[in-house]
Amino acid sequence: MKNICVLVSGGGTNLQAILDAQSRGEVRGGRVSCVISSKEGAYALERAANAGVKTRVIPRKEYADVAAYTKAVTEALLEEKADLVVYAGFMTILDEQIVKAFPYKMMNVHPALIPSFCGKGFYGLHVHEAVLQSGVKLTGATVHFVTEVCDGGPIILQKAVAVKNGDTPETLQRRVMEQAEWELLPKAVSLFCEDKIKVENGRAVVEEQL
Ligand code: GAR
Repeated sequence: MKNICVLVSGGGTNLQAILDAQSRGEVRGGRVSCVISSKEGAYALERAANAGVKTRVIPRKEYADVAAYTKAVTEALLEEKADLVVYAGFMTILDEQIVKAFPYKMMNVHPALIPSFCGKGFYGLHVHEAVLQSGVKLTGATVHFVTEVCDGGPIILQKAVAVKNGDTPETLQRRVMEQAEWELLPKAVSLFCEDKIKVENGRAVVEEQL
């Protein structure tokens, strides 16, 4: 069984989706062994505790810079013997140290169709604000491997979601979560744990599609 460590910063609905899939037997070959939060008091920590999962808090504000913070998170993940690291609403930038320690062993869920609406500054509701501002009619979610390029790693799974008249960033965020993120992330986690994702020439090849 692979050890899945989940990094969180906030509400943790994507963490919940993984935990729910796990309790339905839909995460094959792995189990969530630890949840690490960058913020004290994040609701995601309660979700983990309710599921009986070990939690650790590594507060971003206690570290002087990105390098020191990345070192602390990397060391914690090595201690936890993480086989897969999942960024599930983890709102803190880490540097290349962690990518070297966990090459193609970290995945992130992003609330848009990469390569649109991604990169620095595109996180949480800001993504959906930018989508509405642009007038596109389709958005969605992407699960991708984490590399040193922000939101630039090999794409594992994507799903499109309609933008509707009268949407606010909040209504759109909710639809993208319900229709895409909460389905894609547990699926990608299971595929990884079943060794069904390979990276060839910088692109992810998934054995079994949705
Ligand atoms: C999710 O929409 C996730 O895709 C997004 O933040 C939200 C976290 O919600 N992540 C990013 O924007 C990362 N660039 P959650 O804490 O309820 O899972």
